[in-house]
Amino acid sequence: NRPLAIAVAGLGTVGAGVVNVLRANADIIAARAGRPITVTAVSARDRSRDRGVPVAGLRWYEDAVALAADPQVEVVVECIGGSDGKAKALVEAAIAAGKHVVTANKALLAVHGAALAQAAEARGVALAFEASVAGGIPAIKALREGLAANRIQRVAGILNGTCNYILTTMRNERREFAEVLSEAQKLGYAEADPSFDIDGIDAAHKLAILAALAFGRPVDFGAVHVEGIREVSALDIALAEELGYRIKLLGIAKREEGGISTRVHPCMVPVSAPIARVDGVFNAVVAEGDFVGRVMMEGRGAGAGPTASAVVADLIDIARGRLTPVWGAATSALKPEPSLPMDRH
Ligand code: HSE
Repeated sequence: NRPLAIAVAGLGTVGAGVVNVLRANADIIAARAGRPITVTAVSARDRSRDRGVPVAGLRWYEDAVALAADPQVEVVVECIGGSDGKAKALVEAAIAAGKHVVTANKALLAVHGAALAQAAEARGVALAFEASVAGGIPAIKALREGLAANRIQRVAGILNGTCNYILTTMRNERREFAEVLSEAQKLGYAEADPSFDIDGIDAAHKLAILAALAFGRPVDFGAVHVEGIREVSALDIALAEELGYRIKLLGIAKREEGGISTRVHPCMVPVSAPIARVDGVFNAVVAEGDFVGRVMMEGRGAGAGPTASAVVADLIDIARGRLTPVWGAATSALKPEPSLPMDRH
């Protein structure tokens, strides 16, 4: 069968991870996709840098946006990051050129997801983003496909590995936030601007995406109430522990009387709750549906392997011709439930 030709924009942790997964598991990926998935072009600024992936023989673009004009490329994998700038310009250009897009970029989707989804649906191309929320946890597919029969009451989770690592280390080692912060950054999970992690913005980006899927409406980052973990002290954590609670930064989207509320803030979670025991850089996503009940998934929310695993799952869908509408049946086919306005803070 004809290979699916893809381009990878950005060869940082995620982009290089995608190239590696496609190579290492080429046999099972081709079997599951029904055809090989081949990287034919890449873009990154500095060609001479060794990224640990073979790039010989690939078409190389310094300007990522130029990938959208490459006639051989069928899918653009956007691994640049950031809500605007090159990432946005590339995704818009690729959709306009009739190419499918796979992205791990939660900031881009949280801020511009509604418009990009409309553009992709109008052009008949996929905009796939499994990797944008909770890295390797298949949260998007679970909400959109596995739980599709349910009216979702609540979706919540530990959506930022950097914060969860900081809170876990503060608890285990009885240390203060400022001391642990730099160690968390050294793990390589932190955002380019680490205030996005510790002020809850990254978790809010991901929650906005989950809420859109769970409740069948365009993504609305502006509606999310956001509070981070800067003010949490080692004493707060110790006192919570004495009372039988752990402090976790949670993102919670739920149906309330008269609307949907979406919020990110530190929460006291009873030690007996399964989510209280999700520690370190791990993420968790919990969904509650009217027929399925409660479902919880735990796993690595960042890093090359987990994030690339999610990107490649989307590529396999596209190779097979499974072009799920962007928010499931949310943006066009299904009218949002009129009784559920987003709660604005
Ligand atoms: N900065 C994010 C985290 C990376 O720490 O979870 C994945 O989005």
